[in-house]
Amino acid sequence: MGFAGILALALAAVASGAEPPEHFLIQERFECSLTAAAAGSRPEDVEVRFVHRHIYDREELARFDSARGEYEAVAALGEPDARYWNGQKEVLDRRRAEVDAFCRHNYENDEPFARKRLVQPKMSITPAEHDSSSQKTVLICDVAGFWPSGINVTWLRNGKEEDKARVMTTALIRNGDWTFQIQVMLETKAERGDVYACRVEHPSFPTPASIQWEPQSDSARSKMWTGVAGIILGLVFLAPGFILFLRNKKVALMS
Ligand SMILES: *[C@@H]1O[C@H](CO)[C@@H](O)[C@H](O)[C@H]1NC(C)=O
Repeated sequence: MGFAGILALALAAVASGAEPPEHFLIQERFECSLTAAAAGSRPEDVEVRFVHRHIYDREELARFDSARGEYEAVAALGEPDARYWNGQKEVLDRRRAEVDAFCRHNYENDEPFARKRLVQPKMSITPAEHDSSSQKTVLICDVAGFWPSGINVTWLRNGKEEDKARVMTTALIRNGDWTFQIQVMLETKAERGDVYACRVEHPSFPTPASIQWEPQSDSARSKMWTGVAGIILGLVFLAPGFILFLRNKKVALMS
């Protein structure tokens, strides 16, 4: 059945005032939270917590939390489930072992991959606001798609670091796809001839990387148009002269 068919059915159901089709969604979520006790700690030093959540539609009904060691009902509907699972020794034994069998086991498999992963950020500068009365501009340095999260972003003007008071940073954004992003903004009064640079220090770069931005002042823009107009005007005057020259040449050849 195509989309149109489904839509027609839905409309028919609404029109006749029928009950919507019954909907059951059961979710089992197994979560491992790992907290490094100290930087560079070994896998066995990492604190691990395991949680199994039993969810019906959008409501969590019961859960097992390794900090508690048995099931508990989170909603009244989950009471029979919690009682049923807690009554089975082998179920509880298995859940109590997940901290090692499931969490630590996967951590040891994935940790070397995560630690080795290095992805260079993509960088760009966008001038956001320009208030022509105060000549203030907000420059946004967009640093996206990097891993790991440790990063230093600095704004420089003519090679000198800008005052931190004029720099604003968004919170580090975890994209959830093994990349991070961050935006660092600078409020400044850009003058022609200034060179702005956004410098990024990240483990994926052997040396800090930077990109530049230069203000294109109104006078620079008008100069460019003056130049373009000059070229066009020049051509207008040149063309008749050139045509005359060709004609004379033809005459000269024929004679
Ligand atoms: C950021 O700067 C601090 C202080 O200078 C330094 O210790 C740290 O290693 C830098 N981080 C990166 C990712 O370069």
